[in-house]
Amino acid sequence: MAKKLFVKTYGCQMNVYDSARMADVLAPLGYAEATRPEDADMVILNTCHIREKAAEKVFSELGRLRVLKAERDGALIIAVAGCVAQAEGAEILRRAPFVDIVLGPQTYHRLPEMVAQAARAGGTVLDTEFPLEPKFDHLPDARADGSAAFLSVQEGCDKFCTFCVVPYTRGAEYSRPAKAILDEARKLVGQGVVEISLLGQNVNGWHGDGATGGTWGLGRLVRELADINGLERIRYTTSHPNDMDDDLISAHAQVDKLMPFLSLPVQSGSDRILDAMNRKHDRAFYLGVVDRLKAARPDLALTTDLIVGFPGETDADFQDTMDLVRQVGFINTYSFKYSSRPGTPAAGMPNQVPEPVKDARLAELQALLWDQTNRFNQQSVGRTMAVLLDRPGRYPGQLTGRSPFMQPVHVDNASDRMGQIVHVRITELHSNSLAGEAVASERICA
Ligand code: 5AD
Ligand code: SF4
Repeated sequence: MAKKLFVKTYGCQMNVYDSARMADVLAPLGYAEATRPEDADMVILNTCHIREKAAEKVFSELGRLRVLKAERDGALIIAVAGCVAQAEGAEILRRAPFVDIVLGPQTYHRLPEMVAQAARAGGTVLDTEFPLEPKFDHLPDARADGSAAFLSVQEGCDKFCTFCVVPYTRGAEYSRPAKAILDEARKLVGQGVVEISLLGQNVNGWHGDGATGGTWGLGRLVRELADINGLERIRYTTSHPNDMDDDLISAHAQVDKLMPFLSLPVQSGSDRILDAMNRKHDRAFYLGVVDRLKAARPDLALTTDLIVGFPGETDADFQDTMDLVRQVGFINTYSFKYSSRPGTPAAGMPNQVPEPVKDARLAELQALLWDQTNRFNQQSVGRTMAVLLDRPGRYPGQLTGRSPFMQPVHVDNASDRMGQIVHVRITELHSNSLAGEAVASERICA
């Protein structure tokens, strides 16, 4: 009988990509995907360590899996992968000895070996090394699952922001060679993909071996990808302001397929806090990068990541952040309360901000952002946009897709257009989405 695998993914898009690759390396062992742990012979939790809550969730999920495993007299392989495994491998072994495999993000290609070893030896297999051979050389390429796909091009981070665990859990920056990326992209397009999002913890710091020799930067890679027939949309996420070089900025002006929507984390609008965060740039530098990007692509919309309540953040610092959000006009953000992470420099800083103050600041920030998102959505009504219809809508005949700016858009009477980019005149604003009607070609935005 075929075996079944259930993978639960926490955290970032990188984990979503990695989860799919883990399922792919286990497929030759006979594992088909299950939709719930109760139906599975093996469960992988692909974990996130970025904030305290994310790590806690893993231990409570493990509590539930322990019961399931006991009910089956042990016939369930439990693996913990990802950044919690990397950072807290020993703690998992101590608190959850019923776990069979603990593996860090750099060793997924060794998973089949680990499964065999766990079956043979019993006890827990722990593999949280940073091996010399890059995992990408040993993992199968991404398979298309619809018309939009992620493609991992870069992993790890050498920036060491003082609040962040990523440099410790994902290791040093590594850029995949251009040829491997272009081959994977062509394969995806051959399977019907029209939109590719390049992924990396510092994706614009990508500097890989060029397909024609030398080293390329992300701007060059984007141009080469744009030459692939059938690929219509390119995105990349997520970036550091210091790595936004001239060539990449000019790609925004020259490459129509590069979508006018960018995630550019700033974390804080206060120079004092940016310095304490070790972001290695100030507010004026960030605003300068935004100006250059908007000069290259005037319709560019930006989203960002923000942290409130970093140690030492005063009301005035927080108001600097609010002011920056207004000034840039972000249409969206991921905003978080600062969460102290063991082993990071900020965890030991004085003047930790009390939880109720963080709560109040987060609420104030999110109210402002809600307003800005809404205003942007309102301004979209009446415009015609290119929408990639990539999922069924709520009603028969309806499909839902994404605008160039990642806004969800519902379109009626469109069931024969799944996977296509359709020109849609936006007619309605809903609370978190837009609706419109497909129109014949017209001048469109992006
Ligand atoms: N506390 C709160 N937010 C954090 N992030 C990273 N580390 C922390 C932390 N310790 C946020 C940053 C980053 C995003 C992925 O998560 O904003 O850009
Ligand atoms: Fe973390 Fe900073 Fe690296 Fe982003 S740039 S992954 S926030 S250390």
